[in-house]
Amino acid sequence: MIKDLHILKEKFLQGKILPTKWLGDSPDRFDTYVNWASKVNHVTELGVYTGLATTAFLLGNPKVLRSYDITSKYFKIRPQLEEIAKQVNIDFKFQLANSCSVEIEPTEMLFIDTNHKEEITTRELQLHHSKVSKYILLHDTTAWPGVMFAIKKFLPKHKEWKIIHQDKKGAGLTILGKKI
Ligand SMILES: C[S@@+](CC[C@H](N)C(=O)[O-])C[C@H]1O[C@@H](n2cnc3c(N)ncnc32)[C@H](O)[C@@H]1O
Repeated sequence: MIKDLHILKEKFLQGKILPTKWLGDSPDRFDTYVNWASKVNHVTELGVYTGLATTAFLLGNPKVLRSYDITSKYFKIRPQLEEIAKQVNIDFKFQLANSCSVEIEPTEMLFIDTNHKEEITTRELQLHHSKVSKYILLHDTTAWPGVMFAIKKFLPKHKEWKIIHQDKKGAGLTILGKKI
């Protein structure tokens, strides 16, 4: 079953899981997503699309993965991931929901990769940050300046969070860590 996740990984990296139009540099970040998910027991994901990061998070082997998107149109590998998760004993649930209104469960790590507009990211951070105990990962912080504007407005009002990792290459990835 883990082998099946590795096969899916290779397909994503080879651009064989379609469509690829919104993936940006996500294939290059696959292992980064695995690594961060492997640090925690509970992961929450906003913006699933074809399921690249979902596959990576399952490879990180958390106990729980909650994934949300406003559509499942592109998530063709959903039944396969649900079956693999069952076999490897990861509590995985995908739910159709809007990131700006859904009530998420308490989680250790939140991954935000939805529509990248400043007002949407602002809403997502405001609505969910208090449910997150360790990390908030935001993709596309270089490609979509609105995401970074939202982070810069969020941080001064929420001193418990700070930037712990920033990669400006490609589409960019910024990680916030909660101060203990
Ligand atoms: C850039 S893609 C996500 C890529 C995905 N994280 C990956 O690694 O392959 C953006 C996704 O966010 C979804 N989306 C956009 N706005 C949303 C919202 N407000 N709530 C939930 N999902 C949203 C879109 O339907 C789309 O599937």
